[in-house]
Amino acid sequence: MKGIILAGGRGTRLYPLTRAVSKQLLPVYDKPRVYYPLSVLMLAAIRDILLISTPDDLPQFQRVLGDGSQWGLSVSYAEQAEPRGIAEALLIGARFAAGLPVALVLGDNVFYGSGLQDTLRRAAALERGAVVFAYAVGDPQRYGIVELGGVDAEGRHVALSIEEKPVQPRSNLAIPGMYFYDGEACSLARSLRPSARGELEITDLHQIYLARGELRVELLGRGTAWLDAGTHGALLDAANFVRVVQDRQGLMIACPEEIAWRMGFIDATRLDELARELPDEYARYLRGLLS
Ligand code: DAU
Repeated sequence: MKGIILAGGRGTRLYPLTRAVSKQLLPVYDKPRVYYPLSVLMLAAIRDILLISTPDDLPQFQRVLGDGSQWGLSVSYAEQAEPRGIAEALLIGARFAAGLPVALVLGDNVFYGSGLQDTLRRAAALERGAVVFAYAVGDPQRYGIVELGGVDAEGRHVALSIEEKPVQPRSNLAIPGMYFYDGEACSLARSLRPSARGELEITDLHQIYLARGELRVELLGRGTAWLDAGTHGALLDAANFVRVVQDRQGLMIACPEEIAWRMGFIDATRLDELARELPDEYARYLRGLLS
């Protein structure tokens, strides 16, 4: 499976912070925000990744992620000239995906929790259709919302409806910005038309999969943190969350060097070389993994 990180948009809600810096490059405590969705793809064993951002911001992403080879990945880049919707990522990424299954993650979504890697691996193993997730939120008007109705013969949740930012939500289950698709997603995305707000809606693509009976919804339970940090306060909260958990456990969240080594994308020698370029505390952590 291939992976796409969508990291464009204007970031106006975080002005003035984002006048000169992409919101997906702002720090979440000790790492740029894009490390978090990147680590999601890596944990799903996805190594071939396309990062999509604005023409202005792409050079900065290239400086941060390079070609990915330092972490045993291949990272390539593509432009989204205007924020014409999340589903446009599948049109921009169509050549990259080349008809293969693809995972799409939003560059500002932070996920952390017990069992997440297994959940991701199961989703990445899909053969047909799409896998999206459902996560209970207190403010469902702000998200794509899925309504569930019991389970099928195989014990899987049955989705009844999906709506984008409903005024009267039918449930409190939001769909986070992490989606797994079969090889048809890019061609299905071609049939989408802009919504009233002028965007190609990812929810419209999910409605197509739902109508075909090919949408799988996995619940992300209470033990998982999903933060989308869309405001200044939420960004600070996300940073504090990462700091509290990391300090308490002495383990890093979304550390690409560690994940690359644990996943077998790089060997111990390479990990040690990477540590040499990092500040003392970070380097000590990485070397500690080897001892
Ligand atoms: O965060 C999950 C939610 O993301 C989903 O529940 C919704 O169904 C989905 O529509 C989306 O809602 P948002 O209102 O949060 O999307 P937003 O416009 O804020 O964009 C999310 C991220 O994607 C943000 O980092 C900017 C980036 N983006 C967005 C658009 C529309 C792009 O890079 N290009 C775009 O064209």
